[in-house]
Amino acid sequence: MTKFKKHQCALFDLDGVIVDTAKYHFLAWKKIASQCGYDLTKEENEQLKGVSRSDSLIRILEMAGKRLDKTTFDTYLIQKNEDYLHLIQELTPNDILPGVKRALELLKVHKVKIGLGSASKNALLILEKLELTPFFEAIIDGNAVEKGKPHPEVFLKGSDALKVDPAACVVFEDSQAGIDAAKAGGMTAIALGDENVFQHMDYCYSDFECLDDAILQDIFYFI
Ligand code: BG6
Ligand code: MG
Repeated sequence: MTKFKKHQCALFDLDGVIVDTAKYHFLAWKKIASQCGYDLTKEENEQLKGVSRSDSLIRILEMAGKRLDKTTFDTYLIQKNEDYLHLIQELTPNDILPGVKRALELLKVHKVKIGLGSASKNALLILEKLELTPFFEAIIDGNAVEKGKPHPEVFLKGSDALKVDPAACVVFEDSQAGIDAAKAGGMTAIALGDENVFQHMDYCYSDFECLDDAILQDIFYFI
């Protein structure tokens, strides 16, 4: 007996789902936080996952109880991105997280529509470095949305571009903001990571290696 409704579309988050860039975002934010006199912890960083660049800095300033003038705020955003881009410059296809490429290949062979729904303005650059761009029929990134996760805009634009009803879409996410965005959009949310960290997801797997071919076949409508 199948436990899933059959879905026709897979919307992937990027950072932390396809590639472990989440650790580089953390390192770059930790440096900015320390310039604000604040020691950002791994636990606090969980709240930044999936959150846009400027919203992340707003949250860090709230944690630090600090205010910045607009010029310094913008300078910190630029500096964070420069540090982040430096950290990811050596990214190669070897950095694709285990099981992700196999899943993309299987979905593509069976004509499941594949889209990207990422808060990152660097998404295209990263997909290119990983040589994964051809898998994605729609790429909705931080440049294409006005409202960041947990607002569902990024995923709704993805389902719209792929012409699939939101209810027939599965979102793969590693962040609470992303799970909330998927649920707010009326989609099925599959969390990747430690199930104790997330709420409101439909299913949770520790990584794509656990999402084997049989499970993917159960989730999606294969042609
Ligand atoms: C998300 C990350 O994918 O993208 C966040 O989980 C990040 O940590 C956000 O802040 C924006 O990314 P970028 O690359 O535009 O700074
Ligand atoms: Mg993510």
